[in-house]
Amino acid sequence: MITPDLPAELKAALDAKLQGLSRAEAATRAAVISKTYRDGGNSGAIATETDALAYALARMPATYAAVTASLNALTEIAPDFAPQSLLDVGAGPGTATWAAGEAFSSLTGFTLVDANSALRALALDLLTGSARLRDCQYQRGEARVALADRQAADLVMASYVIGELNETEREALTDAMWAKTRDTLLVVEPGTPAGYSRIIALREQLIASGAHVAAPCPHNDKCPLRPPDWCHFIQRLPRSRAHKQVKGAELPFEDEKFSYVALTRAPISSPHARVLAQPDVNKVEVVAKLCTPTGLAIAKVPRRNKADYARARRWRWGDAVEESTR
Ligand SMILES: C[S@@+](CC[C@H](N)C(=O)[O-])C[C@H]1O[C@@H](n2cnc3c(N)ncnc32)[C@H](O)[C@@H]1O
Repeated sequence: MITPDLPAELKAALDAKLQGLSRAEAATRAAVISKTYRDGGNSGAIATETDALAYALARMPATYAAVTASLNALTEIAPDFAPQSLLDVGAGPGTATWAAGEAFSSLTGFTLVDANSALRALALDLLTGSARLRDCQYQRGEARVALADRQAADLVMASYVIGELNETEREALTDAMWAKTRDTLLVVEPGTPAGYSRIIALREQLIASGAHVAAPCPHNDKCPLRPPDWCHFIQRLPRSRAHKQVKGAELPFEDEKFSYVALTRAPISSPHARVLAQPDVNKVEVVAKLCTPTGLAIAKVPRRNKADYARARRWRWGDAVEESTR
């Protein structure tokens, strides 16, 4: 399991870049970039070195935390997965690459792809701070074009990327990423109904191409959730002083909502159920909403079943839990 905090080398590299940066200017740029995203725009608003740094300060801790939570879910289901090569599609400042580096000591080849020059330049600056990641390859270019020249990788990741594409581009990139996936594809999106619906569309598209779901779903069937419900999770992350200043925030932490899917070439046999909301623990029972191999279930674990109750008390939203405890 890896923690949601940025790795020390990344924090140090970001701190070094912050020297001489006006926090007020960074906050202004971060606000413009956030507004662009909220209005349905994309990272085209990130054009300068200051923009890239403002984006990294404001968003990298949260996207990093969401990626670490998704990777933890994957490694829990597939503990023997030991990828050697990584392809980080729409890598931006390199967030998913840093997280995958923490999650898998087996990784030796890191390839990043992105169209944005300012984010690529920042990523390369940050990555030189890491003895392990500094020899990565970072190709600038449109993802599908860039992927065409790339070898397949054991692990392919796209974090907070597919929301920047229209439906046709998204479907085409989905196929292109799967074609370059030797073992596992992990896609992470904001935990909004729109982010979830993109994840579900990608999931269905790739199941039709023979993919198997490793996480979060314990099955390859249609998602049993119906609107207004949607599958998402929450990762809490600490906020540094600079992070608070750039976001104009008071609280020392932030809760990042995210949706994700990990798809594999080979089926993974791990009978489990996924906890879909924070369970209600009371004196009589634990009540938990679960996604199970046979559909949605509300598990009620009575206190009189001491061992089961003790186990269920520890369930957290997003956990994979043993089916036998239901
Ligand atoms: C919101 S940022 C996320 C960056 C990074 N993956 C992260 O989690 O922090 C989206 C990134 O996707 C890249 N991107 C979007 N569409 C792209 C495309 N068609 N080809 C290459 N990169 C693309 C953008 O340039 C941007 O860096």
